[in-house]
Order: sequence, then structure tokens, then C-alpha cells
Amino acid sequence: MTRLRCDRAPAWASLQNAFETQGRRFDLREAFAADPQRFAHFSQQAPYVFGDLSKNLIDTATMQLLLELAEQCGVAAHRDAMFAGAAINNTEQRAVWHVLLRTPANAPTDSALEAQELDHVHSTLDAMLAYAEQVRADDAITDIVNIGIGGSDLGPQMAVLALQAFAHPHKRFHFVSNVDGHELASTLARLQPANTLFLIASKTFTTIETMTNAASAKAWFISHGGTDIARHFAALTTNVAAAKDFGIDTTFGFWDWVGGRYSLWSAIGLPIAMAIGATGFREFLNGAHAMDGHFRSAPLAGNLPVRMGLLDIWYRNFHHFSSRSVAPYHSALRRLPAYLQQLEMESNGKRVDAHGETLPFGTSPVPWGEPGTNGQHAYFQMLHQGTDVVPVEFVAVKNARHTLKGHHDLLLANVLAQAQALMQGQSDSGGHKHFPGNRPSTMLVLEDLTPAALGALIALQEHRVFVSGALWGINSFDQWGVELGKVLAKDIAPRMRSGDGSGLDGSTAGLLQMLRQP
Ligand code: F6P
Repeated sequence: MTRLRCDRAPAWASLQNAFETQGRRFDLREAFAADPQRFAHFSQQAPYVFGDLSKNLIDTATMQLLLELAEQCGVAAHRDAMFAGAAINNTEQRAVWHVLLRTPANAPTDSALEAQELDHVHSTLDAMLAYAEQVRADDAITDIVNIGIGGSDLGPQMAVLALQAFAHPHKRFHFVSNVDGHELASTLARLQPANTLFLIASKTFTTIETMTNAASAKAWFISHGGTDIARHFAALTTNVAAAKDFGIDTTFGFWDWVGGRYSLWSAIGLPIAMAIGATGFREFLNGAHAMDGHFRSAPLAGNLPVRMGLLDIWYRNFHHFSSRSVAPYHSALRRLPAYLQQLEMESNGKRVDAHGETLPFGTSPVPWGEPGTNGQHAYFQMLHQGTDVVPVEFVAVKNARHTLKGHHDLLLANVLAQAQALMQGQSDSGGHKHFPGNRPSTMLVLEDLTPAALGALIALQEHRVFVSGALWGINSFDQWGVELGKVLAKDIAPRMRSGDGSGLDGSTAGLLQMLRQP
């Protein structure tokens, strides 16, 4: 079945009609009063993640129309094409096969190519995990510095933080991404060459920020008495030749079918493996694989990533909500919002469809947020009483991994109360204390923040972004929008020294003079 863009499917007009006639006036409080089974109807247990979608502005009839839309647009066929390794990244003619990175070695395969790629995946995984264990057992290495940016930073950093309860107690992890030398300088100031391992993480091994930081780290290493580059530097890249040219012998590769923002399951995940060990990393992959199985085989109506992706379409294209607040009620998930920003906005922040045609509707919302309860004392004011409706996605973890009395109950009471307050609201004739309520939220619940549960949570997010991208008819797997700035920075960099403002607009030329060193 070929892909059909959502606005060209018959269900699109029915959804527009449903929105105008009822959707616009939908009231959550009335919906719960009318349907005592609403919680059951709109929630489900997926592998490791329970999703409660019942506090969203949706009824059964609308969900049914959205499911019809998914069927008419060929979402399942597009999903199957991804799992089969088809070149669905059409502007770069690449497969999108990160799901293979978490496929067990003995899993049945559907083609000779898949079997061959799976072999490569597992031989690299085995080598990378053996190296991770070797470093974990090496008491002389106390500090591991990941130098990478974007997908070569956000995923590993988020996961190492999230899984700190499982991490090696005597290793410190540092993440340097910004070309701003303050970041690298302040990290290096705390390190000794003899105790430090640098991981240079870059899919392309050309990214200017990473190459600049890597060169400075190497210069610091040598100037501070370090001698053994082979022992203290490793590279995680698809461009093994460039890493060797840089002087690095220990390299772990991956493949062009792994997008940067989907690469934490590959060699880019080495810091995670060093933190939680080979067994933990395999559990992390297995959790993601369990979610892949759910996404691949559950009927659309009982498929959590599909239901979440459809809700995203309903909110973005009918309600016109342009952002979503992510509220992890677990401090170890504090980098989750930043990770999701790349995942969703680099994937779906597109204004043309996969054929280059301008889209007549909005695409990626802006995911943003901070851990609860901190956000409550900052921007939740706007979520409850602002003029814009911002759907909130809460992430709660049932079990705590500390023994401090009272904290976890209080934390969970807060996440429940916030979702309740958004929905219930409060009447006040005076205005200032009036909460309109009827504000939507989703609650994702993990039993425990284990490697497997985190793997499943991330795979769930990847697949929900896949679903909305599939419906919008876009290529979610390229990122041309980051290129122009890179080209212009290359032009401006030498001008910072020469002061040459010729050909620049007045503002850029004026600021160049202000910012450049005398
Ligand atoms: O500039 C965007 C981007 O290409 C991301 O897609 C990617 O995750 C990041 O840069 C880093 O790229 P690399 O791993 O090749 O250094």
C-alpha cells in the first residue's frame, strides 16, 4: 500500500467535521461523568510502560476516526517498511533501521540483508560491551568524557543520568558537547590524563564542534603529560577512517542506516554501557525491543505509540496546540525533555512532505519541560491559567530507589494532583483564582526506572514520533534544516579575525565588529 498524506485521506474531512461539531466543545469532566469506564477505555499497559490517555480531549468516536485515518494513510505499511530496512529516508536514500540495533542475535530475519546486518550489529555490540567491561574493571580510569553533540550527546547523557542508580560507583561521566570552550575547559580542570578516557562520539566524524573539542582534548592530554593516546581515546563513529587519521586506534563503528538521534542503541551508547555494564546495556536494548514488538504487532487500536501519535495529530492539526510540556516526575529523567526535543523536532520539524511539496498544516509541536515538582513552582502557572492550552505529558515512576521517608509518596501525590487540577479546574468569580480546567494531560507510568523500562520508554517516544511523521507524509529521518547555519558559520569564522564585513547584512556586520577580539 502506498503512503497517503493525512490531509488527502477521507477521514481527514470527517475529523474536521467531528472537531467543529463536538471536538471543540469537548469537556473532560463531562466525559468522565458520562463514562465510568473512561479510564479503562483510554489507558493500556504496553511493555514496561502504562499509558493513561483518558485525561485527553478525545472521545471514542474521534479515536475511531483517527484510527481510520491511520489505516487510510498506510501507517502500518510504512512501519513495516521501516522494520524491513526499506530506504524510507528518501532524501538520503537510506534505510532507517535503528530497531535492528536492539534485535536479539537469534531473532528470525526476513531477508539475507537483514541477517547480514544483524550479524554486524552483534559482532560490534559484543566488542563494544567487552571494551566497556574492560574499562569498568580498570581502576586507573576514573573519568570518562564523552565528546559529541546532538544525537552523539543527548541520548547517552540522558540515559547515563536516568540510570544512575545502576551505575558503576567509581566512575564519573562527563559530557562535553558545546564548542563553547568554557564547557571543555571546566571539565578538563577536574581531570588527570592518567585517569581519563575520552570517547569521541560522532557519526560523521566531521561535526565542527566535536572535532574542535576532540582536538583540544588531545592537545590538553599531551601537554599535561599524557602519552598513550591508544589507551585514553576511543572513537564511536561510522567514519572509522577519519578516526584513525585523528590518531585513534580503538574505534567502534555503526552504519549509515542509524540516524544520529536514534543512535544511542549503537556504539554511541558506549558511555551507557560503561555506566551500567554489559548486562544492563543488554537489558536496555531488550526493553526497547519489547516495545518494538508491541508497535509492530499490536492492532492499531491497542497500540500505545499509535494512539499517542494519533493524539498528537488531533492536537496539532485540529486543536492547533503548538507545544507539549513534558514533566518527568523523577529527577534522574531531567534530560528527557532535551532528548525529546531533538527526537521530535529534528524528525518532524519539516515544512514540506517527503516529495518536497509544501504542507498546508502544522507539523512538529515543541516539546519542553523540566522535572516535576520543579516546574510546578515555575511555569505551571501558565499551564493552569495561561491563555494557551498546552497538553502535558507526565512521566511517573512507581518505585523509588532511595529510602528517604515520605518523599516518594509526596512526589507521586503531586503528579496526580497536577493532572487532576489541570482537568478539574476551579471556579472563582473574582477571576484571579479561576482555573478553567479541561486542560489535557497524558500519564506514562513505569513500575521502576530500570534499564529495560528506560529502553521501552525511549522506543515508545521514537515510535510515536514515527506515527505522526508518517501521517504528515514527511521524511522524519533527514535534517536539512541544520545545514544552512553550518555553512554560514564557516563563512563568518574567518571574519571574526579579519573583521571583514563585506557582503553581510547591516546587523550581522555591526554585531561582528562588536563581538570580534581587538
Ligand atoms: O547537525 C545535526 C546533526 O547532524 C544531528 O543530526 C546529529 O545528531 C548531530 O549533528 C551530530 O552529528 P555527528 O554524530 O555526525 O557528529
